[in-house]
Amino acid sequence: MMPMKKHLAIVGATGAVGQEILRILEQYQLPVDQITLLSSKRSAGTELTVRGERLTVQEATPDSFQGVDVALFSAGGTVSKLLVPEAVQRGAVAVDNTNAYRMDPHVPLVVPEVNGEAIKEHQGIIANPNCSTTQMVMALHPLRQAYGMRRIIVSTYQAVSGAGHSAMVELENETKGILEGEKVTPTILPSAALPVHYPIAFNVIPQIDRFEPNDYTLEEMKMVRETKKIFQDATLEVAATCVRVPVFRGHSESVYVELEQEVSKEDVISSLQAMAGVIVVDNPEKQQYPMPIDGVGKPEVYVGRIRRDLDHPNGWHLWIVSDNLWKGAAWNTVQIADQILKS
Ligand SMILES: NC(=O)c1ccc[n+]([C@@H]2O[C@H](COP(=O)([O-])OP(=O)(O)OC[C@H]3O[C@@H](n4cnc5c(N)ncnc54)[C@H](OP(=O)(O)O)[C@@H]3O)[C@@H](O)[C@H]2O)c1
Repeated sequence: MMPMKKHLAIVGATGAVGQEILRILEQYQLPVDQITLLSSKRSAGTELTVRGERLTVQEATPDSFQGVDVALFSAGGTVSKLLVPEAVQRGAVAVDNTNAYRMDPHVPLVVPEVNGEAIKEHQGIIANPNCSTTQMVMALHPLRQAYGMRRIIVSTYQAVSGAGHSAMVELENETKGILEGEKVTPTILPSAALPVHYPIAFNVIPQIDRFEPNDYTLEEMKMVRETKKIFQDATLEVAATCVRVPVFRGHSESVYVELEQEVSKEDVISSLQAMAGVIVVDNPEKQQYPMPIDGVGKPEVYVGRIRRDLDHPNGWHLWIVSDNLWKGAAWNTVQIADQILKS
């Protein structure tokens, strides 16, 4: 029997995440025969080269999904709410990068190395977690599996690319403008949808997304809710402080984690080293630790600065770094698509 030809659609192909998906497809053999690139009306007509082929970006409409097997959505929650059901209705499996379906109990929230078996339970939609959640659960999963976990307290140092292409342009323009003595007028961060904006160049902003009634931001509560869902552990104690920093790519996280038993540093390191997709860089003597510039364009999650808490014998401090556009978004999406296409 001839193998069925597979058709992939990429919604948001011209955005920060979409562009990285296209870059990954150059390097990674996803088993697809046809690729359709979709965007808003603004970029429709743009020509992009994918796997050596010139493709014209089309405006995403419900009928764009006719005959599509897998549709990757990275065009914001509003677009996903509108078009994911249209894609599913036409027989596609949707892998959604936005916040639209992550907490839906019928939608698996998947990091393949952590809970890849959840993909099998999908009913047409699979959600990709928030970038800051993904890299954290990648590093904490082996520790939780081996030693149990009670509590996580995380502070993030998140790159501007996590807020899309326009935030990267804003950091570049502000940096140049301030150095040239110009007055800058920020319009994108903390979020274009909010009424007040602050400069990110030469600054850090302790707000990502809007505030929730409990004084945590939505980004912080995403980390809390998504971590509990992925680990299937409602009793796990999680608190987050999410901060935007003037870095183009690569999120960093300072994580305090309390295990259920006292273990040696060697055990912590060997558990982390055994985890697929995690690389330990931890050598204080040689001043070696992960930094965002080392992880750009790489699929792995890097862990370093591993030290026992000074007061709590089961407490550990870790520094976790990864490219938010890769494992935090594009690479995780492609990994999920690959599993669906091969199943
Ligand atoms: N950046 C990250 O690290 C990251 C990580 C995880 C998840 N995500 C999520 O992924 C999504 C995209 O993020 P991004 O950083 O790539 O944003 P971005 O750089 O702003 O790109 C947005 C993309 O969506 C397209 N788009 C906008 N409105 C559309 C519409 N009405 N119909 C079809 N396409 C439309 C844009 O097309 P045009 O070129 O036509 O404007 C563009 O391709 C967001 O929901 C974000 O939360 C991002």
